[in-house]
Amino acid sequence: MSERLQGRNSIWITGASSGIGEALALALGRGGHRLVITGRRRDALDEVAAQCAGNITCAPADTTDSEQLAALAPVLESDGPLNMAILNAGTCEYLDVAEYQSAVIERNLTTNVIGTARCIDIALPALRRARAQGQSATLVIVGSSAWWFPFGRAEGYGASKAALGYLAHSLRADLAAEGIDVVLVSPGFVKTPLTDRNDFPMPFLVTAEDAAERIVSGLARGRNDIAFPRRFTWLLKALGALPQPLIDRMAASMARSADQGPGSGPTPNNTQPKTASQENRE
Ligand SMILES: NC(=O)c1ccc[n+]([C@@H]2O[C@H](COP(=O)([O-])OP(=O)(O)OC[C@H]3O[C@@H](n4cnc5c(N)ncnc54)[C@H](OP(=O)(O)O)[C@@H]3O)[C@@H](O)[C@H]2O)c1
Repeated sequence: MSERLQGRNSIWITGASSGIGEALALALGRGGHRLVITGRRRDALDEVAAQCAGNITCAPADTTDSEQLAALAPVLESDGPLNMAILNAGTCEYLDVAEYQSAVIERNLTTNVIGTARCIDIALPALRRARAQGQSATLVIVGSSAWWFPFGRAEGYGASKAALGYLAHSLRADLAAEGIDVVLVSPGFVKTPLTDRNDFPMPFLVTAEDAAERIVSGLARGRNDIAFPRRFTWLLKALGALPQPLIDRMAASMARSADQGPGSGPTPNNTQPKTASQENRE
């Protein structure tokens, strides 16, 4: 039985002003946990806090800014040791290869990789102090399943999420001896403001509430790798395990086919979000 999320935990969630992070805050708040929520938009954080049951502190910051994070650090432990940091803040910007610009790659990497790494600057010492007091300590990194197959236009986003996958697994190895868990979350398509901008079909889309439910349930069950929805992630895993020349042909054909983006391909064009129970029936 996992100790995670047993009793009342102190949890820091980044990217909690919308989408998956907001839904996680609402779900974990209902569970009676003490939350610190971060995003750049103070007003959006206040709105989340107003809907959230229990003890919640808004701590706005740009996660790419070390000085803002250093100022925020004391808040993480203002009501006891920090048991969990959910580093979820992220962006997704697609590349138009005809107008290739390294700036697109840089913006994806800066927010998703450097921002996450900078959050670990303040989260890890706090998690170590929780362990020193015999409490559970879990670092959660929200990656993506998108990088398991080379989708066109996703060069910057996919590279950033591949880096987060490596970062999480490597940190897991280094922190195991200290009893600090490192969890990698790899969602498929989730309906949020981030994906509302997408102009291509998003197979097996789930709601942010379903995503939060799956993440919280996986955390509570002690899972270290949480990927969903299963039909989408299994399909991507299977495609990604094919011989590279075959992957290259499929990826190039998907990139050529129509004016579609990442997520287009051999999967059904079902863009209606699925509920967790629908997914479980599949
Ligand atoms: N939606 C999907 O299909 C999907 C799939 C796989 C993985 N993901 C990952 O899930 C995470 C959440 O995405 P989402 O879909 O929920 O998108 P979202 O609704 O756009 O949420 C992104 C969150 O990140 C915050 N954020 C972005 N840049 C930030 C910065 N520099 N400093 C602080 N906060 C920042 C935003 O807050 P402010 O605007 O207030 O700063 C917002 O709260 C991301 O890491 C994304 O890559 C999403």
